Amino acid sequence: MEQLMRNFFLFLSKNKTLTKLAKKYGLRFGAARFVAGVDFEEASKKIKKINDSGLVTTVDHLGEFVDNEQEAIESANECVHAIEIISKKSLNSELSLKMTSMGLDISRELVMSNMRKILEAGKKHRVTVTIDMEDFERCQKTLDIFKELKKEYDNVGTVIQAYLYRTEQDIKELNEYNPYLRLVKGAYKESPEVAFPDKKDVDSNFKKIIKMNLLNGNYTAIATHDDAIIKYVKELVKEHNISKDLFEFQMLYGIRKEAQEQLHKEGYTMRVYVPYGKDWYGYNMRRLAERPANVWFVLKGVLKK
Ligand code: FDA
Repeated sequence: MEQLMRNFFLFLSKNKTLTKLAKKYGLRFGAARFVAGVDFEEASKKIKKINDSGLVTTVDHLGEFVDNEQEAIESANECVHAIEIISKKSLNSELSLKMTSMGLDISRELVMSNMRKILEAGKKHRVTVTIDMEDFERCQKTLDIFKELKKEYDNVGTVIQAYLYRTEQDIKELNEYNPYLRLVKGAYKESPEVAFPDKKDVDSNFKKIIKMNLLNGNYTAIATHDDAIIKYVKELVKEHNISKDLFEFQMLYGIRKEAQEQLHKEGYTMRVYVPYGKDWYGYNMRRLAERPANVWFVLKGVLKK
């Protein structure tokens, strides 16, 4: 049943008509729990509050699968705007973005020019920019772009998904770039030809790549809500005497707030991924897919209206 619901929400997350429709409306279907606002003004107040409690953030202007040039340029301009406000308001935040919102599906020239514009602003204001990883189809293209940009900019990082079979090899190949990597389990619906279908294999590959990347000495963000993985990381860094300056934990806005605060209290860097924007639909559906139990929370919200 849970697997069925998961697939259903992942299917819905890719529906372009619903994505377009959702943009016209404010945050609905419980999205306010996972999305910090429809514009950066609103989100920046939440970020300030998070920063005041000692946690750091990475802010994500929601948007994906953009299929026209103008929209991709607007998304890039919004990222530059967010970087400027981060600096102006002295927020302790990085910026995350998706390649498809920068025009990945349109042309390489467009993505590169958008990315350079954002990374220049990031360099000027000392804001790190991380490239989210989307579905398998776009993985190689995203890594190629990351590698090219990393030669020009220090302030760029990317994401690696534990559920893909190719991941171990990617970690090996990326090592020469001394990358800042965020390691995650993976959120998209992928075929068993490219990704581990069993959760236990994903978890064990996650542990494997966390160890590889940490022992490679590259700054590692472990992005998970899973206590078993967090425990594994704590034991691993203790065993190998890895300094707390070399890694951080990350979680999503609205998920396991107490656990976030607890890790901060224990002296770990805790970064909260804070999404905002009108394009909240696909993101919200993926969060529901991860934990169908949240659907009851959403339904309760809808019924109360
Ligand atoms: P998992 O889903 O196995 O859950 C383990 C436990 O965590 C659960 O049993 C529950 O206790 C708790 N939990 C998990 N989700 C919860 C929820 N929604 N509500 C309450 N409790 C919950 N993916 C991707 O493909 N590309 C990307 O670029 C990113 N970027 C990214 C950034 C950050 C900061 C995070 C935290 C995650 C991502 N992801 C992502 C998503 C990631 O791939 C994955 O889908 C989610 O983090 C869920 O996996 P977990 O590791 O949390 O474990």
